[in-house]
Amino acid sequence: MSRSEADVPEGLRGRCVAEVLMSCRATRSLANFAHMVAFRAATGDDRSVIEKFAGLANPSDPGRYFERWGRWGDFGVIAETDGQPSGAAWARLFSWNELRDRRGSPEVPEIAIAVDPSFRGLGFGTLLLRELMSAADRLGYPALDLSVNTANHPAMAIYTKLGFKKVSGETRLWMRAIVAKGGALASCSRPTGGL
Ligand SMILES: CC(C)(COP(=O)(O)OP(=O)(O)OC[C@H]1O[C@@H](n2cnc3c(N)ncnc32)[C@H](O)[C@@H]1OP(=O)(O)O)[C@@H](O)C(=O)NCCC(=O)NCCS
Repeated sequence: MSRSEADVPEGLRGRCVAEVLMSCRATRSLANFAHMVAFRAATGDDRSVIEKFAGLANPSDPGRYFERWGRWGDFGVIAETDGQPSGAAWARLFSWNELRDRRGSPEVPEIAIAVDPSFRGLGFGTLLLRELMSAADRLGYPALDLSVNTANHPAMAIYTKLGFKKVSGETRLWMRAIVAKGGALASCSRPTGGL
């Protein structure tokens, strides 16, 4: 058990933490948790936060996911634990020239996500991605895309759980989830609220 997980009251450990977080959405914080957790929308002032998590999400090419942060089409969700950023999920639109996969589209945002290693396995990634999918739906996007290596088991777990499906690739997949209501969001176990 990780240090942070050991700090969680016994009845709230593991998957339960995500459920408790979900049930505390009205206050956006988890008062009974050993750490105070809150989720908020990313703003144009969050470049350094996005840069930090881009380095974790895609160490080989982080710039793709943070350079010129705040440009048109950028949106995201940040988790803060005890007031410090502990995870982020965000999305960007890429032009035809920038797209990584021929199945991508300049009208479908590509996502990136990372959680601080100290807080992984507690449901943050799932919650962040759910929030991001809700935000995409509210913004009117039909779908979200991503690129992932199949060896990245935690990432594959949350992507498939939230409805992303393989579009192309074998070891590095291009995946897409339909986020319009009635699509992937409808299959989430709980409804998600707005940021
Ligand atoms: C991917 C990442 C964001 C997930 O964040 P997280 O907060 O740990 O996610 P959650 O706790 O919500 O869920 C983790 C899931 O991975 C699963 N998992 C963890 N280790 C696993 C393993 N070795 N094999 C299979 N599944 C695994 C967990 O069981 C859980 O799935 P479940 O809820 O269905 O049980 C986090 O691991 C991370 O930041 N990784 C580095 C950055 C990265 O790889 N980003 C994605 C690039 S495509």
